[in-house]
Amino acid sequence: MDAALLGFPECAGQAARLAGELGIPQDAVSLHHFPDGESLVRVDTVPDVAIVYRSLDHPNAKLVELVLAASALRENGARRVILVAPYLAYMRQDMAFQPGQAVSQQVIGKLLGEHFDALLTVDPHLHRIHSLDEVMPGTEAVSITAGPVLAQAIKADVNPVLVGPDGESRQWVETIAAPMGLDVLVGAKERKGDRDVAITFDGLGKVAGRGVVLVDDVISSGATLAVAARILRQAGATSVEALATHCLASDAELWALQEAGIERVRSTDSIPGPTATIPLAALLADAIRQRGWIAAK
Ligand code: R5P
Repeated sequence: MDAALLGFPECAGQAARLAGELGIPQDAVSLHHFPDGESLVRVDTVPDVAIVYRSLDHPNAKLVELVLAASALRENGARRVILVAPYLAYMRQDMAFQPGQAVSQQVIGKLLGEHFDALLTVDPHLHRIHSLDEVMPGTEAVSITAGPVLAQAIKADVNPVLVGPDGESRQWVETIAAPMGLDVLVGAKERKGDRDVAITFDGLGKVAGRGVVLVDDVISSGATLAVAARILRQAGATSVEALATHCLASDAELWALQEAGIERVRSTDSIPGPTATIPLAALLADAIRQRGWIAAK
């Protein structure tokens, strides 16, 4: 068999959509969890080119199973093993901020690079390092942006103000706003703790009497968007929605966003969940075809 997609059970729907877009067969990676917490991983389909699909939210156990799946594929004859991880974990810690800290980005990048020939991800959370090549030298690591599909989710006729809660979000806000000619407002954020942020906006007056769409790459605890939403509501925004590439928030954290005045949260389906209404399959399939990772039909 030429190429096939192997999806893990928790993202079976997304894996099936991508296989459909690519026009290749798909199968599930079988998992058995032993009472002691270990995982038994089995692959029943071993193609020449194996595309393994798994997002790395809650990454610790998932990483071990991914490595086991890659090894099983290779041991059983796969010539090339490619990872599609729409959400890539452990990318933030790119230096030791205090003596003794592990630089997780380098460690996890190296681990994945040792087991996969190529990797495709979406909007990885890189800070001081700007390219995945630096994280996974020697591996064909490709990062694409969800900007185009996030833009499609915005109703231009409503003419919202696009708001980024911090400097890092500017790239997504401007990419989405520019073609539609939407107004933009970007805040400055100071992070004081995991769930404690302070945000200031210069030019906040422009949201008075307007609808607002908050845009960010990732919603983690939701603290950033909750703080931003409260400020925007106080400044007279008539509605506040949120749009993000990745949403890791729990149900309780999503509820807190609602309480902060966010009427609707939408994200791509990089991580399955109630907000994941924007499919990435077409974007991912285009990237895979452009790189020639599977034979053209
Ligand atoms: C920060 O740099 C990111 O772009 C997000 O704003 C941040 O990760 C969101 O985290 P949380 O939802 O926990 O505030």
